[in-house]
Amino acid sequence: MAERVVVTGGAGFIGTHSVDALMDDGAAVLVIDDMSHASTRALHASCDVVVADVEGEDARDAIGRFDPTAILHLAAQGGVNRSWREPTVDVRINVLGTVNVLQAARDAGCRVVLASSGGAVYGATDVLPAVEDTPPAPRSPYGVAKLSMETYLGMFARTGGPEGIALRYGNVYGPGQDGTGEAGVVAITCTRVLSRRPPRLRGDGAQTRDFVYVTDVAAANLFALRSAISGVMNIGTGVETSVREVIERICAIAEYHGDTEMVPLPPGEVRRSRLAVDLARTELAWQPRVALDDGLARTYAYFSDATGAQPSGQL
Ligand SMILES: NC(=O)c1ccc[n+]([C@@H]2O[C@H](COP(=O)([O-])OP(=O)(O)OC[C@H]3O[C@@H](n4cnc5c(N)ncnc54)[C@H](O)[C@@H]3O)[C@@H](O)[C@H]2O)c1
Repeated sequence: MAERVVVTGGAGFIGTHSVDALMDDGAAVLVIDDMSHASTRALHASCDVVVADVEGEDARDAIGRFDPTAILHLAAQGGVNRSWREPTVDVRINVLGTVNVLQAARDAGCRVVLASSGGAVYGATDVLPAVEDTPPAPRSPYGVAKLSMETYLGMFARTGGPEGIALRYGNVYGPGQDGTGEAGVVAITCTRVLSRRPPRLRGDGAQTRDFVYVTDVAAANLFALRSAISGVMNIGTGVETSVREVIERICAIAEYHGDTEMVPLPPGEVRRSRLAVDLARTELAWQPRVALDDGLARTYAYFSDATGAQPSGQL
């Protein structure tokens, strides 16, 4: 049977890379996206697109008409800070939107892969690297929404479908991420340095994250769509890197030798994050392939090409 995949949020950062990977591998793809936070990276020219709110009937109808073999559900309100400012908006998009997609998948009789978040679901755990059965302890409305998505998926799977898996990503970075928002330190730092503004460091910068390159995440999405595995699974590198180190490495690539802007750490920020990825290695035969230095260089090159800027040098 030919592979037909709906990608919700397919016009977003992880979405455009996932659509490319799917289409380059022969799948037919329908993107459902309301374009509220579309990436600067172009969508694959040959995919079908329906502009719709993932929580509405139009999205369900479009899924029904496309008759997918699987759904990759990426559409989300992805900002932790925004989830605090507008928690009910976060619930509407991230929880109700997911339930709508799960219902459509049940009607279509197809598999689903959901985008969850390791950092947001595990919270400030002492278990490092965090394994999948670490007790969830979200510290934001966004984290609660991600955990709810996973719980709904489990409930649907136990009661007639759809079957599927929630992938708990680490800190995804790479070309096409929004460098103007509140999240995504790699994209934000590239954007700031290229526009001749100092990089911004929150707190002492010793907080660590599991940085995973976006094409590795897109590959994991593909493997997960094609597997029969259910439940939850981490997708990261198993390596923790401090935010300060990432900023310093980008500055070295950019040949930036100017000041750094220091701002306070937001309350509740997780100090350390690192994901165990043994399950993905054994069950999906997936492993991250892009090392951090390589990924940062590729990301900086993307932003540099997009702005037509030269290395920033001394401010
Ligand atoms: N980027 C990360 O580091 C990271 C980490 C963990 C989990 N995730 C999850 O991965 C998924 C994709 O993240 P991303 O970084 O590509 O985000 P993104 O914001 O770049 O992409 C999300 C896409 O969803 C669309 N969208 C938003 N609300 C919508 C709605 N109501 N209806 C239809 N479309 C809507 C946006 O227009 C955008 O194209 C999200 O579920 C996010 O929570 C991302």
